[in-house]
Amino acid sequence: MNTLIQVDTDKKIFYLCNKEISYIFRVLPKTQKLEHIYFGRHVASHGTVKNVTQADKAWGEDLIAGNQYSSLSRLMQEYPEYGTGDYRLPAFEINYPDGDEISNFEYANYKIIDGVPDIKGMPHVRYSKSDCQTLIVTLKDQYSGLKMKLNYTIDSINASLIRNVEVVNDGEQIYTVKSLKSMALDVPNDDYDLITLNGIWAREKQVNRESINPGIKEISSRRGASGHVHDPFVALVSSETTQNSGEVYGISTIYSGNHKETVELDAYDVVRVTAGINDDHFSWDLNPGENFVTPQTILVFSDRGFNKMSQTFHNLVRNHLIAPRWRKRKNPVLINNWEATYFDFNEKKILDLAKKASQVGCNLFVLDDGWFAERNSEKGSLGDWRVNYKKLPHGLDGLSSRIHKLGMDFGLWFEPESVSEDTPIFKQHPDWIIGIKNKSHSQGRNQYLLDFSNPAVVDNIYKQMDKILSTTKIDYIKWDMNRNITEPYSQYLSLNQQGEFYHRYILGVYSLYERLVKKYPEILFESCASGGGRFDLGMLYYAPQTWGSDDTDAYERWEIQKGESYVYPLSTIGTHVSASPNHQTGRQTPLKTRGNIALFGTFGYELDLLNLSELEIEIIKQQINLQRKYAELIATGDFYRLKTSLSSTDAWMVVSRDGQQALVCYFKGLSHPNMGYDHVKLYGLNDEIRYSINDSYYLYGDELKNIGLPLEYSLNGDRIQDFDSKIFEIKAN
Ligand code: GLA
Repeated sequence: MNTLIQVDTDKKIFYLCNKEISYIFRVLPKTQKLEHIYFGRHVASHGTVKNVTQADKAWGEDLIAGNQYSSLSRLMQEYPEYGTGDYRLPAFEINYPDGDEISNFEYANYKIIDGVPDIKGMPHVRYSKSDCQTLIVTLKDQYSGLKMKLNYTIDSINASLIRNVEVVNDGEQIYTVKSLKSMALDVPNDDYDLITLNGIWAREKQVNRESINPGIKEISSRRGASGHVHDPFVALVSSETTQNSGEVYGISTIYSGNHKETVELDAYDVVRVTAGINDDHFSWDLNPGENFVTPQTILVFSDRGFNKMSQTFHNLVRNHLIAPRWRKRKNPVLINNWEATYFDFNEKKILDLAKKASQVGCNLFVLDDGWFAERNSEKGSLGDWRVNYKKLPHGLDGLSSRIHKLGMDFGLWFEPESVSEDTPIFKQHPDWIIGIKNKSHSQGRNQYLLDFSNPAVVDNIYKQMDKILSTTKIDYIKWDMNRNITEPYSQYLSLNQQGEFYHRYILGVYSLYERLVKKYPEILFESCASGGGRFDLGMLYYAPQTWGSDDTDAYERWEIQKGESYVYPLSTIGTHVSASPNHQTGRQTPLKTRGNIALFGTFGYELDLLNLSELEIEIIKQQINLQRKYAELIATGDFYRLKTSLSSTDAWMVVSRDGQQALVCYFKGLSHPNMGYDHVKLYGLNDEIRYSINDSYYLYGDELKNIGLPLEYSLNGDRIQDFDSKIFEIKAN
């Protein structure tokens, strides 16, 4: 591997460069603080870069008396601290035994390692030693025995950097970490806009773009999960950035708990972004000899708009986050019984549905909520993971073997973190429920959450799940989580550990995943939290796919999946074809469109196949054939959000990395009569190659890229209707 990290030891400048990007910072000679110099398109490591810095203009509150250049208030910093005269938001805060929070970390040394430092118990990027290098810069606090290690990992291919931080207590006293972000980034403002992904249940990941104004903007979760409301992702983009042009800094943390991203525009026109664990209600005591490690944050730079940013995230997730055995998988075509039966099922009903599903070509049957204890509604039994023999007289094992005989794999729904009042676990262990005695405990969906910061709780749930998994052939698990933490308190943790609760909760969730995937590596996990309430990079480390949203309406799904595609590859987005009228919106959409949109995800069905016409069954068979044909392309290709010209239309495409094959989906919202001409320019194709379009006509790559693919308003010559769509199969010919 070419060296990706160079150090000018004289001038103390660090260069992290690959062909795509450079990231540069240095040690300030007078104060030994780290000054950020540059992050962006590749520039070579010239010693002259020091001349672009603004350090000599520093002015404000001087760290060294009488030396105005020792002020930090107008410098771009690498990992800013509290109590130094830099009034912007710091990247960390530590409480000292005297009650103050004033730190003074100075540069101590650096080292470079091949690979990436281990993060135990937390999801992280998976790189081999030959894939990447990590620069570890150690800072030492002048007021204590604390050390801070700043880790920067760069690989040779991707326009990205992975950052995280470790604080180590080499002193003799206890220090309390009040805040420790995974990273901070200062960049000179370039008329930047801020991009965030926001929503709520059934409206996940709506893209928001706003200009960055002086002051502080916060994106965060205080729910105990990354949440439906704000994805742990922000991007700074130039005001002219589009899907395919312009600069983007995309930042996303590999974490599923409370997160916080801040964006601050200061008086000197510098934008500071911080990201990592939310410091609200957080504190962590560091005893002598202990350390605390933050989750990793991925920083992506794109000079070709949002699409290039997304492709970089997608490549990182597919090649370095998801477990190797799932990377090249062709997703099974799944049938899930939830919207077909809800709680109202028995073995016969399930087997009838499964039979039909296997006839149309599905190869994974997922039994959703309602198979255990007395669970016949949303009202009880969570935490009592024993099969309901009234519904399933041959048990889960009997059902699983019958489904396997139909030629399908068998999947099962769990909600491991939740508990209902009517269960033995709730009655016997009131101290295992999150919340404090004698104060209110809010219900969410009639249920409570178990205290996963307590290893005994995690162990109990592990054993209950293990009992089922070791006696029944289960190929897939849908791990759901249908409420958030409301009254955060752990009866297991001590008084002064309560600030650790939220983080320890999510570490408990990770530890259960860890144990299950270790013992049952062949089980495909899909995470879910009332749809996309915990759709984040942390979950994808254990569960390589996430149920995209409980809103299965095709029209709404277009926007939701589009937002999800900003960070998450199509192969991770759970998509199902459901019934029309849709159960969430009441909207009627063509089966063809429901299939076309679900195709750009994991793909499956969630409707009563026994209630469909022969024509609909025929269409479903064709959809499954199409999915099989393109599963690999969807899993490995480059995804582009395209620009159409008519206002009520949209399009996206996936193209193979060798440019030989592509799939375009054109989608219409409301239909209008007498509309104009629409076309869409494609990407990723080879200029000189002639492509066949739907086996009916030909166009060259340069034509498709520059003139565009013509789109008919009346798709397929059918009658014009709302929510129509069309797939274009494009292949080198
Ligand atoms: C959540 C999930 C749904 C379904 C139900 C079952 O809402 O998002 O897909 O599994 O729970 O109760």
